[in-house]
Amino acid sequence: MKTLLILTGHTKGLGHAILEKFCEFLDTHIVALSRGSLEINHPRITEVPLDLSDLDALETQLPKVFPKEAFDRYVLINNAGWIGEVKPVGKLNPKGIQRALNLNLVAPMILMDAFVKAYGPSEGQKVICNISSGAAHRPLSGWGEYCASKAGLAMFSQVANEELKELGFRVFSLAPGIVDTAMQSEIRQAELNDFPALGRFMEYKSEGLLSTPEEVAAKIFYLIQHPGLFTEVVQDVRRF
Ligand SMILES: NC(=O)c1ccc[n+]([C@@H]2O[C@H](COP(=O)([O-])OP(=O)(O)OC[C@H]3O[C@@H](n4cnc5c(N)ncnc54)[C@H](OP(=O)(O)O)[C@@H]3O)[C@@H](O)[C@H]2O)c1
Repeated sequence: MKTLLILTGHTKGLGHAILEKFCEFLDTHIVALSRGSLEINHPRITEVPLDLSDLDALETQLPKVFPKEAFDRYVLINNAGWIGEVKPVGKLNPKGIQRALNLNLVAPMILMDAFVKAYGPSEGQKVICNISSGAAHRPLSGWGEYCASKAGLAMFSQVANEELKELGFRVFSLAPGIVDTAMQSEIRQAELNDFPALGRFMEYKSEGLLSTPEEVAAKIFYLIQHPGLFTEVVQDVRRF
């Protein structure tokens, strides 16, 4: 199946594992957006270096993100994310709040809207997978920016799925579980005073409870291959 994948946050962690998983399939054209670049020299992979929390820059780059050619399947995976400032309300910074909300919520909304404009009338399968978190549905002290942004993304995904099913889109908000990436290292560097659950996150690592990015990417790939098997918008990879 000739597939277009638009993927954010491909340079490391879960996004990089998703990129590699899709690369196994020769008929996939990939547009990948992160601040950095892997300097990939491949005719089917286009890297667009971009800070997604800079919304003006995102708007300027949008025309480069959506190829005009026809595909059998169109996939958008909003994966890029940041844990935000790990601090309680009252110790946050305006710029940190903006950066977290722009990257985790507003940029995915803008990309979804543009994806629907670009491919809404197209034939073929259309799947949007927003990488969310269990934290979208559970408050955690010190994670106000992160929880709020992921909760917003989960709700936007549910609204979009309602609105877009007539156009043949499926939208998912997917929690990937606890994955051994740079984001988890950053979480473990938080101050205990600011993040009371720090000890629990240290134990996840020391007890080997984190999934590998490759394990989770394989599950996301399965979801994209078989969207009809998943009826709910909100999904958690630990349940499949
Ligand atoms: N790891 C976990 O346990 C866990 C748990 C639940 C949910 N998640 C979610 O899973 C997703 C992937 O997380 P991860 O753990 O793989 O994180 P990660 O290892 O920190 O990787 C984040 C990716 O996003 C890109 N990125 C970060 N800031 C960006 C920006 N301003 N503009 C453009 N790209 C940016 C990074 O590339 P550059 O640095 O090159 O920009 C990188 O490729 C996130 O949405 C996260 O919230 C992770």
